Amino acid sequence: MPMRLFSRLLLFTLLGVLPASMPAVAQPAPIIIKFSHVVSPDAPKGKAALKFRDLAEKYTNGKVKVEVYPNSSLYKDKEELEALQLGSVQILAPSTSKFGPLGVKEFDVFDLPFLLSDDARERQMFASPMMADLNKRLEAKGIGPLAYWDNGAYVYTCNKPLIRPEDFRGLKMRIQGSKVLDAAARALGAIPQIMAFSELYQALQTGVVDGEDNVPSNILTQKFYEVQKHLTVSYHGRLTYAMITNKKFWDGLPEEVRKPLAQAVTETTDFFNETAAKDNADALQKIEATGKIQVHVLTDAEKKAWIAKLMPVHKEMESRFGKDFIERIYKTTGFTPAS
Ligand code: LMR
Repeated sequence: MPMRLFSRLLLFTLLGVLPASMPAVAQPAPIIIKFSHVVSPDAPKGKAALKFRDLAEKYTNGKVKVEVYPNSSLYKDKEELEALQLGSVQILAPSTSKFGPLGVKEFDVFDLPFLLSDDARERQMFASPMMADLNKRLEAKGIGPLAYWDNGAYVYTCNKPLIRPEDFRGLKMRIQGSKVLDAAARALGAIPQIMAFSELYQALQTGVVDGEDNVPSNILTQKFYEVQKHLTVSYHGRLTYAMITNKKFWDGLPEEVRKPLAQAVTETTDFFNETAAKDNADALQKIEATGKIQVHVLTDAEKKAWIAKLMPVHKEMESRFGKDFIERIYKTTGFTPAS
């Protein structure tokens, strides 16, 4: 080393400073968490994903960096679950109606018609000790459940008015992968078609399907009201998300990272539930205000006819879940089946 450079470095060392051009002690690279989802950044899940990103980065002091991929930009419904199992993505929040195709059929039970129409019943179910057993079913597939998020009750949209159960006869209805949703559509006389969320707008626009059921915030943020003429407020089912991770990834995180991340999960869950309740109520008004879709709220008498048509699905599904399991779910949720 030339003498001048040596004496300069000695001087810097003595002064305890390094010139700006010299590299500082290398910081370990942040842990990257990819959070993929299928909805708009403006939907409750989109907002919650960004909230989680901010909290996770803050609480871990930058040891974690969260990359959020909305609108199926990374993976569609089925692929994102496979990618999570493979570890290509670390966090998702799919609807619990999407676990059946993975071989975890128990979560389909939450799609039993009218079981979770009511907010209190949903919260009671997902906070109950029964979830410990159900979570194990996901863990056996390499999936770590972190939290459950309540996105409210479903309404139907269609190109025809859906007032009486008979109105469904012969209509092609998009459903998620759950076998209970399939049975419910068939009980109404419709033809169910499983389809990824990302393909739905175009399928509605081109008439590949006649209708679908969803929460108002998705109908608004995906602009389904542009390609559907009628909306029925039926609240016949419910959209619950499971915030999930790759179990091996999560368990392998150092304690000083996993703990603040768990705190971020808890706070994001509260944020999600508050946001979803507000956004779904607002969305219904905004959809109606577009004037592009006619909104019909089922009367008590109309709803009774829907319940009568759909309750046999509960009985039919005893062969899938076992009578005992369904009765335990009734007990936990406080649901009383209409006779
Ligand atoms: C759907 O597929 O309709 C929903 O589960 C999409 C979502 O994630 O809200």
